[in-house]
Amino acid sequence: MDSGSVFASLVQAPEDPILGVTVAYNKDPSPNKLNLGVGAYRTEEGKPLVLDVVRRAEQLLVNDQSRVKEYLPIVGLADFNKLSAKLIFGADSPAIQANRVATVQCLSGTGSLRVGAEFLARHYHQLTIYIPQPTWGNHPKVFTLAGLSVKTYRYYDPATRGLNFQGLLEDLGAATSGAIVLLHACAHNPTGVDPTLEQWEQIRQLMRSKGLLPFFDSAYQGFASGSLDADAQPVRMFVADGGECLAAQSYAKNMGLYGERVGALSIVCKTADVASKVESQLKLVIRPMYSNPPIHGASIVATILKDSKMYDEWTVELKAMADRIISMRKQLFDALSARGTPGDWSHIIKQIGMFTFTGLNGEQVAFMTKEYHIYMTSDGRISMAGLSSKTVPHLADAIHSAVTRMG
Ligand SMILES: Cc1ncc(COP(=O)(O)O)c(C=O)c1O
Repeated sequence: MDSGSVFASLVQAPEDPILGVTVAYNKDPSPNKLNLGVGAYRTEEGKPLVLDVVRRAEQLLVNDQSRVKEYLPIVGLADFNKLSAKLIFGADSPAIQANRVATVQCLSGTGSLRVGAEFLARHYHQLTIYIPQPTWGNHPKVFTLAGLSVKTYRYYDPATRGLNFQGLLEDLGAATSGAIVLLHACAHNPTGVDPTLEQWEQIRQLMRSKGLLPFFDSAYQGFASGSLDADAQPVRMFVADGGECLAAQSYAKNMGLYGERVGALSIVCKTADVASKVESQLKLVIRPMYSNPPIHGASIVATILKDSKMYDEWTVELKAMADRIISMRKQLFDALSARGTPGDWSHIIKQIGMFTFTGLNGEQVAFMTKEYHIYMTSDGRISMAGLSSKTVPHLADAIHSAVTRMG
């Protein structure tokens, strides 16, 4: 009996559209079930992966008896912040050398986006943020709750399953001057479609000419191409012109630290004096929200980033993850070609990062779940990281059947 409860009138909230896929998957007793919904890396054996270099860093930390569990400062671990800025902006970044970057440790990518958005809502003169259409489902919620007003710009073209570059330029060209623009640094989620470097350059020129403020979401650095530097290139182009920008970094995917919640928010400013004021105001955002960030995950990252040998080991393990995903793309494409599945599936190998935006519709997705026990979000996004050589044929059969029956 809940009739006496002060919360009795609450309605049951729907599951999160992404995390809800896993809830449904867990309830399915089929031995052939396959979860391609969640954006977490799996090995060829379908198991979660803790990187060897992460295990080693953890051992070092555990064995170091001088380490204590005191609170971190509000802005987090100083070493971690410095090294994170270096990782995304480059070791030779003029902005870092001039002390023009304010970096704070936050709760992974989501927390970094939220702190950045709360800061902008308090201190930036333009409260409109443009996000790509489509984008990661949490973006509109994070920004709206922080007090920003969310609008979209065209990004994906379903006809080509590629970038709608003309639409993007038109929409950003028509955006309110000074507005904030959310950009996926690489491996756009959910589409797997990124602008080329030439297109990035045009986006940069347009945004700078209109005074639009770039807010980069970097959740997949190194995961897209296998190279940390190549994946950070778009961000570095915007920093190289001397203008301002924000960047939210996550170590969930590229270091496999999902549940440790390690990330950073950097705000690149025009002078060291402004960066110092920005940092002081970021502290006022963070203190009443969660006081200060957790110590363990950031210590793992700092241990790896500051030791050149461990850093190199990380890049090898990171590249292996990226390469396995790229090889899954190839295998799925080949399997569909072998089955003669109607349609052009080349987008599977052209898209990049963890996800493929298959182009399958809601009805086809529902069919694949019911008949083949394959779980994915209803927009047809599949996580390539959840696939293996063993499961590719099952997925290809399901896609073939869905397309030929309900295409
Ligand atoms: C585009 C994008 N941004 C941010 C995140 C945030 O992830 P986390 O908060 O786990 O770092 C994700 C995770 O899926 C993402 O895909």
